[in-house]
Amino acid sequence: MQFSTKIFPQADLQSPKLLKSSLKTLLGQNTDCLILGYSKVDFDGFSAAKGTNAKAGFLRELDQALGESVNHANIVGDLDSKQATVCLLRAEKSWSTNGVKVKRVLLVSLGDVHLASDRSLSTYSKVARAALKVLSGGSIEAAVWYTPSFALSHKADFIAEEVRLTIQYAGDQAYRFGVRQPAAMKFKAKDKADTFKHLVFAGNEGCAKELKAAVDQGVAMVEGMHLAKDLGNLPPNICTPTYLGKTAQGLSKKTGLKVEVLGLKQIEALGMGSFLSVAKGSATPPQFIVMCHQGGKVGEAPIVLVGKGITFDTGGISLKPGEAMDEMKYDMCGAASVIGTMYSVSLMKLKKNVIGVIPTCENMPSGQATRPGDIVKSMSGQTIEILNTDAEGRLILCDALTYVERFKPAAVIDIATLTGACVIALGHVHSGLFSEDETLVSELTKAGHASLDTVWRLPLDAAYHDQLKSNFADVANIGGRPAGSVTAACFLSRFTEKYKWAHLDIAGTAWKSGAAKGSTGRPVPLLVNFLLERK
Ligand code: BES
Ligand code: MN
Ligand code: ZN
Repeated sequence: MQFSTKIFPQADLQSPKLLKSSLKTLLGQNTDCLILGYSKVDFDGFSAAKGTNAKAGFLRELDQALGESVNHANIVGDLDSKQATVCLLRAEKSWSTNGVKVKRVLLVSLGDVHLASDRSLSTYSKVARAALKVLSGGSIEAAVWYTPSFALSHKADFIAEEVRLTIQYAGDQAYRFGVRQPAAMKFKAKDKADTFKHLVFAGNEGCAKELKAAVDQGVAMVEGMHLAKDLGNLPPNICTPTYLGKTAQGLSKKTGLKVEVLGLKQIEALGMGSFLSVAKGSATPPQFIVMCHQGGKVGEAPIVLVGKGITFDTGGISLKPGEAMDEMKYDMCGAASVIGTMYSVSLMKLKKNVIGVIPTCENMPSGQATRPGDIVKSMSGQTIEILNTDAEGRLILCDALTYVERFKPAAVIDIATLTGACVIALGHVHSGLFSEDETLVSELTKAGHASLDTVWRLPLDAAYHDQLKSNFADVANIGGRPAGSVTAACFLSRFTEKYKWAHLDIAGTAWKSGAAKGSTGRPVPLLVNFLLERK
């Protein structure tokens, strides 16, 4: 999938003076499809004018250029003011006599843009998805998306958000497992790529700069999302801790990322007794991955992302039931989102310092595995009574959270498929957000709305900490069934006292089950937006 921009400085469908010439320019493009948005006002004006020239409007002018194709579509009921209605007009003989070169015009209804409720990004997302669906899987290979006609708000920032979201969705739609990662190619006859391959965002003088930047950012974000999806979808016999480490190192060859991968000996030397207690049961060695993007000033406090990288979670000695256990290959999706986000950030040359940290290992039962009742010492010095070996995510994360103190971070965000309880609480819609820092909460919530990769805040207050009391160690690793995702977050919070911190539980949002089984690439869009928008 390819994305680009094209600027027609004078094009403006809103200006009665420029309307005719603008349409001529747009319709004169050599493309399979020109995509235009229209509103209820445009539609009502057009319908009311009924074949007369009474009300010159954008649809009326278009109708004339297209030999009444719009009118015919309206007569048969293909055109409507209802939001996200799509109407595909195909070239007829009369088009070419008018100098029209586009092979199709796709008209997409924005709905009633006078209503504040219809001017939101989530409205736009419905409209954009409907349009993208028409483009996919047919004979359209390339299309021109005339951005200003979709602008639900004329603020340039909003247009940039719209464009990034369109690229996010188009990238999502174009994703196929087994085309990017060499390892993925071995497993399945190559999935057929989408026939739709190239989307051109057209704009005018008013949005040229924002458009270009937004396309670059969107493209970088999609690259990161695709990488995160591939890593999530790869089978656990391939996507091992070593594989994640090699992937991170591979990125450093392609971009400016500095990557360091620590092995067992170094992890032992750091005193990460909690992390190692999870890794112990597996024949596959653990890895500790550190990725640095130096885009800001030297010495500027970095934002640190920490991702849970359990490449397979059997539960350990507290073995999980067999049903759908294969899905526990996705227990490294936090790590995948960190690797994907770091890749995006380096591709877009973000002017900030960002560090990604990933503790990764496998949670297996064996003769060497940790037992329920074992007590281990974390890097922070706190001792942990492991009452359930299936609550392993927090055990690997707590040592990583202590490790990152050395970076004197501006903020730390950990991302983890941490608890089944979070799926019960929030389903597959929002990721769970836990933080006592109001600024981080507000920034992450906003970034979620801007990328439609949303979060919902859950509590994290002292009242829940009691559930983690242990008779034999400083803390227990489980707090019982009530508020399972809150007590998991409370456990982590004990290791984050030296910096501002937020925790994202992505257990319900990182992948889909059932027929559509597959990684979603979330929360890469959320994290990229958060990093882009952060001052
Ligand atoms: N990786 C799981 C969480 C999970 C479960 C994510 C199902 C998505 C779907 C995690 O390691 C885990 O097993 N958590 C336990 C914690 C419990 C033992 C306190 C859980 O949620 O059951
Ligand atoms: Mn587990
Ligand atoms: Zn797990």
